[in-house]
Amino acid sequence: MIIVANWKANNVSTTSWLTQTGVDNDTKIVIAAPFTMLFLLASGPYLLGAQDVSMFPPGAYTGEVPAELLSELDVVYCLVGHSERRKLLGETTEVVGKKMARALEAGIIPIVCAQSFEEIPDLALNTPGEKFIVMFEPFEAISKEGKNNAVEPEKVRETVSLWKTKLPAGVKVLYGGSVNSNNVKDYASFVDGFVVGHASLDQVEFLKLIANASTSKN
Ligand code: PGA
Repeated sequence: MIIVANWKANNVSTTSWLTQTGVDNDTKIVIAAPFTMLFLLASGPYLLGAQDVSMFPPGAYTGEVPAELLSELDVVYCLVGHSERRKLLGETTEVVGKKMARALEAGIIPIVCAQSFEEIPDLALNTPGEKFIVMFEPFEAISKEGKNNAVEPEKVRETVSLWKTKLPAGVKVLYGGSVNSNNVKDYASFVDGFVVGHASLDQVEFLKLIANASTSKN
């Protein structure tokens, strides 16, 4: 199971952040921090993730952060095509495909976020399943002021199993959208992990979520 904390654009205090998680090595914890905080999170019982990557290689692209610079910071995973970026910044599936390609070239595992199967770039269909991850999350499912807008477990179960029949063998499919320590058990037996926004900002809540997910996984 992979549990990704997506801190979004929040300023989380990294002082003594997750010194231990209390779970076995089968559960990978990924902290997808804002770029500026990746330095502060250099070591801990988690892997580093980024929330975005440039679609350009290193070079004259002001303001961009290319995949090679992220891998120098030991970033292992990178979200691409999060629904907030698609909706608020107009990111298209074509751009998401370019970002996925850049991450793969730099040896970073892209976590391709999609609200529907059509949002998964074609590149994913021709990439070995162990080289990337998919995350299902409709924009409407994102928690608002901590409110639970989660997709019904049955709908997530159906979506995950349908997508797995269409994607390359072995690909992991995560669910994101209002996951918290209370509802995580309702999903843990049929997903490969979670992307967690709001509930990852508070360390006590996030640790509870990790514990509950790992006792309910299949
Ligand atoms: P949420 O956000 O857990 O606050 O709903 C998840 C995400 O958008 O990655």
